Amino acid sequence: MLEIQNLQATVADKPILKGLSLTINAGEIHAIMGPNGAGKSTLGYTLGGRPGYEVTGGTATLDGTDLFELEPYERAAAGLFLGFQYPVEIPGVSFVQFLRESANAQRKARGEAPLSGGEFLKLAKEKAGLLRMDMDMLKRPVNVGFSGGEKKRAEMVQMGILDPKIAILDETDSGLDIDALRICGEGINAIMRKPDKAVLLITHYQRLLDYVKPDFVHVLAGGRIVRSGGPELALELEENGYEAVAA
Ligand SMILES: Nc1ncnc2c1ncn2[C@@H]1O[C@H](COP(=O)(O)OP(=O)(O)OP(=O)(O)O)[C@@H](O)[C@H]1O
Ligand SMILES: [Mg+2]
Repeated sequence: MLEIQNLQATVADKPILKGLSLTINAGEIHAIMGPNGAGKSTLGYTLGGRPGYEVTGGTATLDGTDLFELEPYERAAAGLFLGFQYPVEIPGVSFVQFLRESANAQRKARGEAPLSGGEFLKLAKEKAGLLRMDMDMLKRPVNVGFSGGEKKRAEMVQMGILDPKIAILDETDSGLDIDALRICGEGINAIMRKPDKAVLLITHYQRLLDYVKPDFVHVLAGGRIVRSGGPELALELEENGYEAVAA
């Protein structure tokens, strides 16, 4: 599904990704762990097409389509979802409005009819319910004044509505309380654990992986994948740290 080969990228002319290769097949859940500053968020931003993240070599394809040929919104319409480490606030735009516009923009790009008000509301209620998020919260401006954990849950509601093929979730577990961690984990499973979808979880800790069980775990250090293994690798990392494992 997602095939990354020898990816090199710079941020502010500084090389960050230095030949990263990773293949994610449909139905698989992958986790990427790695020290601060290793390039994990950079990987997500580069795939998503965030301005300022320049690809200097290598390829990335989603179901055979070259991602780097597409504008960010086209990548989203092709089925790529990026959950931010730090979700942004958008004052003046209500969350429901934002969700409906983005869902319908994607449907339009795919040649599908827009959702009616009623259809959208039903979908939003279903996904908000999955994440135990009150619909009243979604009437507020996007993320404005949301607590850290609320932002992450709202982001999972957004993922549920957009229904992507592949989700790259950047530290979705950070800032979540114990119950919210379980709710988000179960939400990710309900939305994304399907034979035709895939997930790349970026995380520092095993705790999210207790709920969303990865098929593969990778260590990203110095801009490339330095080790890959099964779920046991995350436990080994937690036990011994990166220096022992990635050396
Ligand atoms: N605008 C920028 N200018 C200079 N360096 C940058 C810029 N943005 C990111 N970097 C650098 O790129 C490197 C990789 O950052 P990135 O956010 O991808 O790390 P990360 O692996 O996600 O770390 P963390 O675990 O702390 O989230 C860091 O050293 C960071 O300082
Ligand atoms: Mg990061």
